[in-house]
Amino acid sequence: MPFDATLETRLNIEIEATVATAPSFAKDVLAGLSAHPKTLPPMYFYDAIGSRLFEKICKLPEYYLTRTEHALLKRFAPQIAARANGNLALIELGSGSSFKTRRLIAALLAQQGGLHYFPIDISATMLTRSAKKLLREYPELLITAHAADYDAGLRRIAAEHFTQKLVIFLGSSLGNFEPPQALALMRKVRAHLNDEDYFLLGVDMQKDAAVLHAAYDDAQGVTAAFNLNILHRINRGLGGEFDPALFKHAAFYNAAQSRVEMHLRSSRAQEVFVERLDRSFQFAAGETIHTENSHKYSDAQILQMCRRTGFRLVQRWQDDKKYFSLNLLGPA
Ligand code: TRP
Repeated sequence: MPFDATLETRLNIEIEATVATAPSFAKDVLAGLSAHPKTLPPMYFYDAIGSRLFEKICKLPEYYLTRTEHALLKRFAPQIAARANGNLALIELGSGSSFKTRRLIAALLAQQGGLHYFPIDISATMLTRSAKKLLREYPELLITAHAADYDAGLRRIAAEHFTQKLVIFLGSSLGNFEPPQALALMRKVRAHLNDEDYFLLGVDMQKDAAVLHAAYDDAQGVTAAFNLNILHRINRGLGGEFDPALFKHAAFYNAAQSRVEMHLRSSRAQEVFVERLDRSFQFAAGETIHTENSHKYSDAQILQMCRRTGFRLVQRWQDDKKYFSLNLLGPA
């Protein structure tokens, strides 16, 4: 590992064409707002502004997820790192600020002296900023960053050669997929793993609905601002004429499907024109755009997902309240 290398020589950033251009955004917004019920793909929350707002969510008193997962990583990262055979590469899906990942990076550096970290994130701004910060903090770190969605990022990773890999997917982001898509993503990760590789999955557990409501509808309104940012983004990027003041953030626990649903509710009947799509969209009073689901899991569901995707559960760690779980998976 190049201890004395300058920051630039330790950083390699690739920005996928799909992230840098707008056509897929226009296509997805058109499809989502034309659907019944209306939806928008959650990936588009995370532009530079949205990623900042999400960082704020992670620090809210009500949002227990980040804090709990961070504490678990702080405590158990050395146990995870002990599984490295000396040249393990760390790959992260949806790395964001890489704040929690520091725990693993530090433990792996202590374990094997050097580390090559491959963060994948949809926000190129966030990715660049956090990669530079990490390199300043850890002189023995190498970073190859991909600004891409999960699929494109994993495809790029597949082109690399590794001795041993640890793929991590934190923050219970798996829960933002519909159950069949969550399984599909796990299978995709599984397809990239060899016998000595691992997949670390952070999963939020089923719990009292009041705790969930507070976490997704905080008192300061940061989550509301985050949800509404997607309308600002349509306005900025596609010449949309949304008046965000006419939409309200709505979050509730759907117990039947064990998921928190996030919506934007139109406070009155209205028509919204989007210039770049060359059309307008009708909203009835009270109609919602369903922007996100956050699925919550039971122990049995996690085990079942593992079984169905070719994984075995190597080890799992939970906090005292059993709010959150870190699951270390290996090829079955
Ligand atoms: N992965 C996060 C979660 O499901 C994303 C998230 C948190 C989110 N708060 C949100 C998404 C509010 C949309 C709206 O917990």
